[in-house]
Amino acid sequence: MDINVRTTDSSTLDRLDREPLAFGNIFSDHMLIRRWAEGAWGPAEIRPREPLAMDPTTLALHYGQTVFEGMKAYRGSVDGRLRLFRPADNARRLAQSCERLAIPALTADDFIACVSEMVRTEHAWVPHARGESLYIRPIIFASEQHIAVRPALEYLFVIVTAPVAPYFASGAKALRLKAEPRYTRAVPGGTGFAKTAGNYAATLRPMASASDEGFDQILWLDANEHEFAEEAGQMNIFFRIGDEVITPNLSGTILPGVTRDSVLTLLKDWGVKHSERKVSVTELKAAASEGELKEMFGAGTAAVVAPIQSINYMGEEIHVSADAGASLTQRLLDTILGIQYGEIPDPHQWILNID
Ligand code: COI
Repeated sequence: MDINVRTTDSSTLDRLDREPLAFGNIFSDHMLIRRWAEGAWGPAEIRPREPLAMDPTTLALHYGQTVFEGMKAYRGSVDGRLRLFRPADNARRLAQSCERLAIPALTADDFIACVSEMVRTEHAWVPHARGESLYIRPIIFASEQHIAVRPALEYLFVIVTAPVAPYFASGAKALRLKAEPRYTRAVPGGTGFAKTAGNYAATLRPMASASDEGFDQILWLDANEHEFAEEAGQMNIFFRIGDEVITPNLSGTILPGVTRDSVLTLLKDWGVKHSERKVSVTELKAAASEGELKEMFGAGTAAVVAPIQSINYMGEEIHVSADAGASLTQRLLDTILGIQYGEIPDPHQWILNID
């Protein structure tokens, strides 16, 4: 597709030298914008990032008809080339989110072309330090001015990018999670598998309370029984019990993470016993008390692979055992980063080079 690119004459790139990098505190100079109206997507344009003028009747503001993605561009540690990780999987998931939210989808080719052109335009914004990257945030939202509850007749697809450090500022420190006993993130038949704003909005109140209590994240439990682990909001969750790695199966209430799938693929490659199934808090408690809960970790684009030390359920601490042996968490993190930064072979062709 043809993408018109109009670059800024007042870049703020020097912020990268002046300010410490966190997750999402600095944005790059440009944005991509593409409008859907009268049944079709129009041309895409990259232009200097600026506020979008929005009437208060813009539908997305009222009923939350909006979806997004999260992906990163990496600068190769050895060759300096820019890389995307599994962009076709983000395209596929965005299409699934769009379908659920009654939003017109983009073709995978168009999505990847738009993301690639944004990365080319913002190449100078891709950090050099290993572990840092250019976070890419594509969103699609209902831009029509109306107030009836129905799918909008106009949408905007926008991409912004942000140079980022790892999501968890604690770095390698293992996370403390609170299993949320009262609120739920998603219900069967709802939107849990889609990347849509409302799923995140629903977690803000409980997350603020958990943070006040000193926890890093929430472990969401199933809506029916509040017994089975689902995901951690910003990442999928994995448990190593004995010699088996388990992650909750994609039941429709869990986000199908690209990093989650990469972890499962690597475990398969390595011949590590693994399964996708329900995991109850009762099972985790029993495993911990027998010293069999060897490792827990989260997996996500922003978080990458993040070790978890404990889950607090109604005041009771479920802790990983001290004698975990060789850390699978670390091996997974090293391998995924190694592929993303072009340091080791990429046997599954997960990387798309951007030249
Ligand atoms: C991602 O990992 O890209 C996410 O979307 C998590 C995020 C909401 C920070």
